Amino acid sequence: MKNIVVFAGLLICLLGFFRAAPAAARRKIPAPELFNSKCTGCHGADVALKRHASQEQFLAIIKTMQFGANVSDREMERIAAFLGHPDRPLFEVKCTRCHDMNRIRQARLERKTDAALKALGERMRRMDKSWISEKDAAAIYQYLISIY
Ligand code: HEC
Ligand code: HEC
Repeated sequence: MKNIVVFAGLLICLLGFFRAAPAAARRKIPAPELFNSKCTGCHGADVALKRHASQEQFLAIIKTMQFGANVSDREMERIAAFLGHPDRPLFEVKCTRCHDMNRIRQARLERKTDAALKALGERMRRMDKSWISEKDAAAIYQYLISIY
């Protein structure tokens, strides 16, 4: 009987741990990282990044490369959502004036909570409020939580 109680207790602790774990590592591989690792074998990242199209258009374009890129349907959808996000151009213009995208990648945004991402956006906005409006910051925050 005692063993069963101990075992049950252990099980509950473990369940608690596994339920808490996804919150810490809140996302799987972020879409931009997936894109960097899977989509730059045959051409540079700029081929896709400089192209502006909707999510659906991107999905149609890149489906033709799915086989060579070795990505699942779900991963293709996530990459298309990242590339075709309507606020990607805003993010790229507003957030790379003082530092490049690498600075942002190094910060491993997927490990940050939604609240930390919001705080980061606010901190960046305060560095130059005439460059990033409140509306821009809100849109960029929504963009970041959708792709990370
Ligand atoms: C097996 C090689 C290969 C891989 C892997 C690959 N591509 Fe391509 N991609 C190509 C080739 C070849 C072209 C040029 C075709 C053309 O002339 O439009 C191209 C062109 C593109 C274009 C421009 C098309 C246009 O009409 O403007 C985009 C966007 C693109 N790739 C995105 C991606 C993405 C996103 C991935 C990852 C899922 C990817 N590619 C992986 C071979 C590849
Ligand atoms: C006016 C200049 C400026 C703009 C615009 C700017 N940044 Fe920064 N950013 C900085 C400086 C300076 C640092 C380094 C000091 C620091 O970390 O506070 C930094 C650091 C960072 C870091 C690493 C620090 C951390 O806490 O992880 C990230 C991530 C980042 N910026 C993201 C962004 C994003 C996202 C945007 C667009 C909303 C943006 N930045 C726009 C100036 C800027």
